Order: sequence, then C-alpha cells, then structure tokens
Amino acid sequence: MRQAGRSLPEYRALRQGVAMLDACMRADLIIEITLQPVRRYGVDAAILFSDIVLPLKALGFDLDIVPGVGPVIAEPITDSAAVAAIPTFDAARVDFVAEAVAGLVSELGSTPLIGFAGAPYTLASYLIEGGPSKEHAKTKALMHGAPDVWRALMERLAVISAEFLRVQVEAGAAAVQLFDSWAGGLSPHDYRTHVLPHSAAVFADIADLGVPRIHFGVATGELLADMSTAGVEVMGVDWRVPLDRAVDRVQPGQALQGNLDSTLVFAPWDVIESETLRVLEAGRLAPGHIFNLGHGVLPDTDPDVLARLVDFIHSQESPVEG
Ligand code: CP3
Repeated sequence: MRQAGRSLPEYRALRQGVAMLDACMRADLIIEITLQPVRRYGVDAAILFSDIVLPLKALGFDLDIVPGVGPVIAEPITDSAAVAAIPTFDAARVDFVAEAVAGLVSELGSTPLIGFAGAPYTLASYLIEGGPSKEHAKTKALMHGAPDVWRALMERLAVISAEFLRVQVEAGAAAVQLFDSWAGGLSPHDYRTHVLPHSAAVFADIADLGVPRIHFGVATGELLADMSTAGVEVMGVDWRVPLDRAVDRVQPGQALQGNLDSTLVFAPWDVIESETLRVLEAGRLAPGHIFNLGHGVLPDTDPDVLARLVDFIHSQESPVEG
C-alpha cells in the first residue's frame, strides 16, 4: 500500500521537522519508515520509502517536495541546453538508498521489498511544468513542438530511472515498479509514439536482473494494452478498470496488481468487505493477482481499518499457492 506510512502517527512523529526529501536521503529513516506499515499491517511486501523525484534531487537538481503540493522544480526544462545539462547518473550519489535497501532486506527476512522509480514521462512532466499540473500543456507542447529535445530528455530520464532501479535490485530489492502516474492524460497515439519506447527502454535495461517488473499509471484504462507491451510481468491497474476487464487488455500471462478505490476505506465495513470481495473475485481471472489499493493511501485513512482490511484479505483463500 503506497504511502501507507502517511496515515500512521509513528510516521508523522518521525517526520517532525524533517523535510520529505531529507528523510528520503537518510538510510536510518528510510529503513524505519519502510518498516512501519509492515509492522502495523503485516502486509505481504514492503515498498521502499523514497520518491520518484529522489534520484533527480540526489543528482543535483534544485527541487523540493512542497507539502500539500508535490514536487516543485526551481528551473524548469525548456530547451536542449537544459537537457544537456542534466547530470549523468552516478550510483555514488544514491549510496544511502543502497545502504537502506541492504539493511531492509536483512530486517524484512522473507517479506520481499519492492523498489521503484518514476517513468520518464511522469518525471519529464515535473521537470517541464516546474511542478504538478493538471493539463500538462507545456509538456505536450515540447513533445510535439520540439521532438528532438523531447527524445533527448526522455532518453536521459530513461537511463536515470533504469540505473536507479538497478541500484535497488543489486542491493536486494525483490521486484520493481515503474510509476507513470500522469501517462493517463495522453492519447493512445501520443503515448505509443512519444512515451512507450522510453518506458520500454527502462524495462529492457533491467531485464538482466531477473526480478518481476510492475508498470503502473493512473487513469490508464485506455492505455493498458500499450503499457502492457513495455516488457513487464505485472500490470498495475487503478480503481477505474475492473480487473476482469483489465485481464483482456494486457498481455497473456501477465499478473495484475490492484485495485480497491482508496476512498472506499472511509465507507462502512460491510461495504469495504463486499467491494474487496468483488476485487478479489475479478482478480481470479488473471494468472496472478497482487491486491492493493487502486492508488496510494490517503493521509487521513484510519490505520485500524487498513489493519482489518489486510487481515480480511489474508483470511480469503489464495488462488495461487505460496
Ligand atoms: O509508501 C511509501 O512511502 C512509498 C514511497 C512512495 C512515495 N512516493 C513517498 C511519498 C512512492 C512509491 C511515491 C511515488 C510518487 N511520488 C508518485 C507516484 C505515485 C502514484 O501512485 O502514481 C508521485 C506522482 C510522486 C510525487 C509526489 N511525492 C507527490 C505528488 C507527493 C504528494 C505531495 C503532498 O504532500 O500531497 C509526494 C510526497 C510523498 N511521497 C509523500 C510520501 C510518503 C508524502 C510526504 C508527507 O506528506 O509526509
């Protein structure tokens, strides 16, 4: 459950006076915050405490995560000179991540750790817009108006994402997820032409590592078929597409990850239970199903409800042994 920590008082206590990206750059805090939801909820996997913009920050970008807003970039990218100035990836700049992953793997024992990175498009959208955006108008203007600059930017970001995933897997992460959170704002044609090749390059780059690769975006129902061709074992599906429909859109043999609406945890328990059963039932049609919320945990979610939800899922018969 992404950002499950945000709902926990023990997370808020640890983060007192520590900025988000500062917390992401300290191995001791990464370890402790990653473990908090695992301890509380007994989930089947941990997701590394970090952020999609962390590698950019670590490589020297002047950016920050503003509470209640999201990532904000001091000097947005507008031209080829700015693209050329993007620093090349240097594993030494993220050594705290490798240290945290190694520490986590020994603490977690048999519970797998999921590493992650931002996909080139979603990272590019922050770098070009300068911060969060609904329309992504500048991003699309660069994509269509300066295709060479666009391609160069996406190629650079693809290398950074792939290398950042490699660091995590080499330190012991058991699976990786690529977040293309904002790809859902693209038409299938634009996605296929200007974005998919670069996400596929990320997955191809790390194929030799042999870990399961998960691909996820928000509002990507119309893109699922294309996204599933990027070279992945698992497709993440947000709450908008029922898993029994998603299974017909993705590649044969691919597992699905998803997809209880994150807001449903505020509903009465009998609704949560019946909706969870519907998700599990639909998921049985896929060759494999990883249950999660269809997007991250909302900060004011009641931790006791999440604990009850995890117990309820564990009480249901698993379609796949092990
Ligand atoms: O459980 C975890 O902590 C997993 C780690 C994780 C974070 N961000 C930590 C975080 C992951 C996987 C992300 C991914 C991420 N970051 C995405 C993709 C998300 C998706 O589901 O599609 C995006 C778009 C970002 C960029 C970002 N970082 C946003 C939009 C925000 C929210 C800003 C806000 O305050 O509303 C963040 C901050 C962030 N990243 C928090 C956490 C725990 C919240 C920090 C806090 O408030 O304590």
